[in-house]
Amino acid sequence: MSKGAQVDGHAVNGSRVLEGDCLLQLPELCQRGERFELLYVDPPFNAGGKRRARLASGVERARGTLAYDDHFGDVDDFLRMLEPRLAAMRECLAPNGSLWLHLSHHTVHEAKVAADRVFGRGAFQGEIIWIPGNGGRRRNGPSVTHQTILVYARGAQLLWNADDASLREPYAETSLRMHFRERDESGRRYRERTIGGKVYRYYADAGRRLGSVWADCPAMNANTPLTRETTGYPTQKPEALLERIIRAATLPDSRVLDPMCGSGTTLAVAARLGRYCVGVDLSPVACQIARERLRAILEYTGSSTKGRLADAQLQSLGRTDRAV
Ligand SMILES: C[S@@+](CC[C@H](N)C(=O)[O-])C[C@H]1O[C@@H](n2cnc3c(N)ncnc32)[C@H](O)[C@@H]1O
Repeated sequence: MSKGAQVDGHAVNGSRVLEGDCLLQLPELCQRGERFELLYVDPPFNAGGKRRARLASGVERARGTLAYDDHFGDVDDFLRMLEPRLAAMRECLAPNGSLWLHLSHHTVHEAKVAADRVFGRGAFQGEIIWIPGNGGRRRNGPSVTHQTILVYARGAQLLWNADDASLREPYAETSLRMHFRERDESGRRYRERTIGGKVYRYYADAGRRLGSVWADCPAMNANTPLTRETTGYPTQKPEALLERIIRAATLPDSRVLDPMCGSGTTLAVAARLGRYCVGVDLSPVACQIARERLRAILEYTGSSTKGRLADAQLQSLGRTDRAV
């Protein structure tokens, strides 16, 4: 992490990466009483083949270190893997928590039905259509230029920061000219609308609420060797995407869990925003990268805050429960 990077809060002691199958690791976390306000999970897409990490510059990805297998068989085989893990994830959620399940066209429709079975149809909150910017444009059929993130709530009270700036976007120029003609005593431009007999005031500088299609978090930021955040791990997601999700669904004292954390993007952002976070991954390469990423942030924030893990604490955490 560069010295210039912004650190919003204090990375919290105990944030860590666990190596293993989340189906086994999550019940252990639950047994210890750990509950999380946010679970973001980005499973393999079942797109076929093996995914490899490019750990050194100049190494072709095809010759890189094996990171994980992206082939489970047909969609039913994939669901047999996913569904029990979703059930384990649900148990780890705090009463006001949410699960964000990131999938592609390969499995999202069947996985939605499986997730409805686990959470209950009424727990489905909606979906984000994420446009990574690097999707496949096809000659002989519809292009594939988006991925889908399904959002489920654990209970009736969903933690949702509707007014966070990351969930706002500027009004269109024409809308500003047409509608925002009033100014308040401090000079801020606004418009008022009456809905159901109640008057609502909207400020131009606050922007409007973001829609459900997110096209401003390009995957390229996570996937080209030219950027700070690229680790070389395959299918790494951009920090901007995770930052928006974490800001939407957590508060500074919230806890974040990524049960298939890959290179640790969720953890890196959560730690930078001062949230306690735990990552789990089957792949030793993923865990190594995620630990290094998390450690860099904890050390950075730890230099001036409580974030740094004490050596004794590191040692006491054991083999599968090693801190970063
Ligand atoms: C698409 S990658 C995640 C990428 C991650 N979001 C990032 O930004 O780097 C999917 C990850 O799921 C992991 N995985 C697959 N099955 C798993 C399981 N049963 N338990 C834990 N991790 C698993 C893989 O090893 C892989 O790292």
